[in-house]
Amino acid sequence: RRIAVFASGSGSNFQAIADAIEAGMLEADIQLLVCDKPGAKVVDRAQKLNIPVFTFMPKTFGAKADFEKEIVNELNAYNVEFIVLAGYMRLIGEVLLQSYEGRIVNIHPSYLPAFPGKDAVGQALEANVGETGVTVHYVDSGMDTGPIIEQVKIPVLPGDTRETLQERIQKAEHQLYPAIINKLLQKDIVGGIVQ
Ligand code: GRF
Repeated sequence: RRIAVFASGSGSNFQAIADAIEAGMLEADIQLLVCDKPGAKVVDRAQKLNIPVFTFMPKTFGAKADFEKEIVNELNAYNVEFIVLAGYMRLIGEVLLQSYEGRIVNIHPSYLPAFPGKDAVGQALEANVGETGVTVHYVDSGMDTGPIIEQVKIPVLPGDTRETLQERIQKAEHQLYPAIINKLLQKDIVGGIVQ
């Protein structure tokens, strides 16, 4: 299966997906990394793995639809079948949603619907909850609102800082995401929807 990963930051989930492919645990090929921050660490990671990178700067485009059309052209050029968001820090617009309906997934560092949006780890600490989590979900036009595919709970321990909690969450993400992607890709993609 030909996938693209969209990421804006450090790319530890991108790395976990690439490592799982390398280890034979995930039957997929990353055709392309799409990144909206040209200097992001994830770009270095992709280059080290010889994975093609499409970077762009949203500010240089008039509207979301304009850069999403370019992204879709790139995805078509690589025959990408499935999109994996891994720390892509922007909402997906109509152009991408229409082209890849039911074939875009995201991972979010909370037990949704709790703590959607930015800084879910900080939100959980601020709220003083005993547990938070990780959620993999389909992407729709909302902020972390699409249908949930899988969730795990993660304890918040006394004395946790943003760093310690984030580390625990990311460890879980790196296990969960490649496994779920593999499961989804094993199924047939019919009419754009994973069945
Ligand atoms: C992850 O925690 C993911 O849940 C969220 O953004 C973060 C990306 O981290 N959507 P990384 O760039 O994969 O290290």
